[in-house]
Amino acid sequence: MAKAVANLTTIFLTSSAIFFSILVMHANATEKSYSFSRTLPPQSLGLKREKLTHLHFFFHDVTTGTNTTNAVVAMAQSTNASATVFGEVVMVDDPLTVGPEKSSKPVGRAQGIYASASKSEISFLMVLNLVFSEGEYNGSTISILGRNSIFTPLREMPIVGGSGKFKFARGYAHASNYDFNVTKSLNAVVEYDVYVLHY
Ligand SMILES: *[C@@H]1O[C@H](CO)[C@@H](O)[C@H](O)[C@H]1NC(C)=O
Ligand SMILES: *[C@@H]1O[C@H](CO)[C@@H](O)[C@H](O)[C@H]1NC(C)=O
Ligand SMILES: *[C@@H]1O[C@H](CO)[C@@H](O)[C@H](O)[C@H]1NC(C)=O
Ligand SMILES: *[C@@H]1O[C@H](CO)[C@@H](O)[C@H](O)[C@H]1NC(C)=O
Repeated sequence: MAKAVANLTTIFLTSSAIFFSILVMHANATEKSYSFSRTLPPQSLGLKREKLTHLHFFFHDVTTGTNTTNAVVAMAQSTNASATVFGEVVMVDDPLTVGPEKSSKPVGRAQGIYASASKSEISFLMVLNLVFSEGEYNGSTISILGRNSIFTPLREMPIVGGSGKFKFARGYAHASNYDFNVTKSLNAVVEYDVYVLHY
């Protein structure tokens, strides 16, 4: 009887040992098949030589009429009393065209947010995705995150990334008012020159 118990104990201990080593091996195998990071040669993603692309287009922000392209989505209690509309947050889906006329050929949209971020002048925080629809850039995007002091003749805003043809994008956008006169209307046509490094 004592021998049988001893045998059973041995069997139990042996099978437990096998079971745990399988567990450990399994855990190690699992860790190996999900590696968190690795170094790759850039060619493995087809990245060859970085190139510089210049894009030129007009941006239409339409505030009045039946087809507005922006919407005020938030403001502070104090915004209406602020000379710089500080705190106003505007969502836009603004057309981008080749020429300055609204009827000119569309090349994409500027989709995102601008928000009044200065108490001393009208200056916006711009968070925009430029979504292109033209030619080889159809479906590619460029992301802008920058400061836009809208009465300064030439504004510069950083490009912080992109997708599609603009993966790994960096660069800057220059913006200048083409047709914007607040005494006439709040509609604005803005000329954009975008200089972007990408692969
Ligand atoms: C599992 O990984 C640990 C730590 O990396 C290592 O010490 C152990 O020997 C590995 N076990 C097996 C069964 O591979
Ligand atoms: C407003 O936009 C829609 C969709 O783009 C278009 O079909 C419509 O003709 C436009 N209306 C006016 C008054 O421009
Ligand atoms: C600001 O003024 C507009 C227009 O008069 C009004 O519709 C809006 O409710 C006001 N906003 C606040 C936060 O008071
Ligand atoms: C852009 O791509 C979309 C989706 O693939 C397609 O429907 C559209 O016709 C294309 N536009 C142009 C101008 O090539």
